[in-house]
Amino acid sequence: MGSVNGIKELVDAGMKCVPAKYVRPLQDRPKLSEVSYADQIPIIDLNGLLAPRSNEVIESIGRACEDWGLFQVINHGIPKSIIEKMRTAVEGFFQYPAVERMKYHSDDVCKPVAYVTSFNQQKEQVLNWKDSLRFRFSSRIENFNYLPEICRQPALEYCEETKRLGSRLYAALSRSLGLSPDFLDKYLQSEVANIHLNMHYYPPCPDPNLTLGLSAHSDPNVLTLLLQSELGGLQLFKNGVWMAVRPIPDSFVVNIGDQMQIFTNGKYKTVEHRVITNAHKPRISLATFFGPADETRVGPLPKFIDKDHPPLYRETLYKEYVSNFYNKGLARTASLDFASINKR
Ligand code: OGA
Ligand code: NI
Repeated sequence: MGSVNGIKELVDAGMKCVPAKYVRPLQDRPKLSEVSYADQIPIIDLNGLLAPRSNEVIESIGRACEDWGLFQVINHGIPKSIIEKMRTAVEGFFQYPAVERMKYHSDDVCKPVAYVTSFNQQKEQVLNWKDSLRFRFSSRIENFNYLPEICRQPALEYCEETKRLGSRLYAALSRSLGLSPDFLDKYLQSEVANIHLNMHYYPPCPDPNLTLGLSAHSDPNVLTLLLQSELGGLQLFKNGVWMAVRPIPDSFVVNIGDQMQIFTNGKYKTVEHRVITNAHKPRISLATFFGPADETRVGPLPKFIDKDHPPLYRETLYKEYVSNFYNKGLARTASLDFASINKR
């Protein structure tokens, strides 16, 4: 049995070894000594989007999406003070006694705010070494009122900024695909789209070789803006090996999700990733997920289909796609099977 109140509570109580429910089978263990940093991961300077030669930046974004499904952005325009306030607020929330945090507990993914431990405990054989506060905000300003007070104002500012950065990235991605800058906004119905902020807390772990903070998965949405921790911990899977994503101060990790792979018919890649734990310090990360609206149907765009590129995916309703993702539990890139034509 995993902890009902969360893994942080067990760690705070002085637990000295990894409980059985968190021990990964041998083949899924992180083999930490074998993983090195992938320093070839593209770093994109978003100041370049303002410059006359923005085409070069757009091209490098496109290449990053084809080769890696992940890149890091610097000079993204989000003030450091807003990021720090948000991080401090999340730290503050996780310092609350477990009983206070549990007041927000819910397994209902539709709730505006839900405190959860692991990912989806009901469906998991092995649990993830993390607790999270999930927040669905989209364009519903009233949802901020459901947040714990300590997070409310910081989240208002942080989410406004990440939303703006998300739109800039949608425009850049549209251009990189040879589409008009507002294409993705319109196609994905950004006005009513799903945006979530997931505030993750990964407590220190007595034996990081046995368990994972977050097991391997690809994100089901369009793109994710991740404020990784300065402690690192994020890894991606490419060419059959796990590689670590080096933390860069004042940057965001941008990772491509399943929907982007689907509507580009495989041109842009969703990225398989995971989070490892560390023995020393709690790790806080903030992931903002941009997805289409619930009722948006996403399938390969005609532009990416021809006789050499038959459709690899069927069209799915986004809310059904996400519900499948959630119910299945994290399973490498298996979430894509729901839409893959040759897998059904
Ligand atoms: C996620 C995720 C990475 C992190 O929430 O989907 O991949 O660093 N998070 O917490
Ligand atoms: Ni993820």
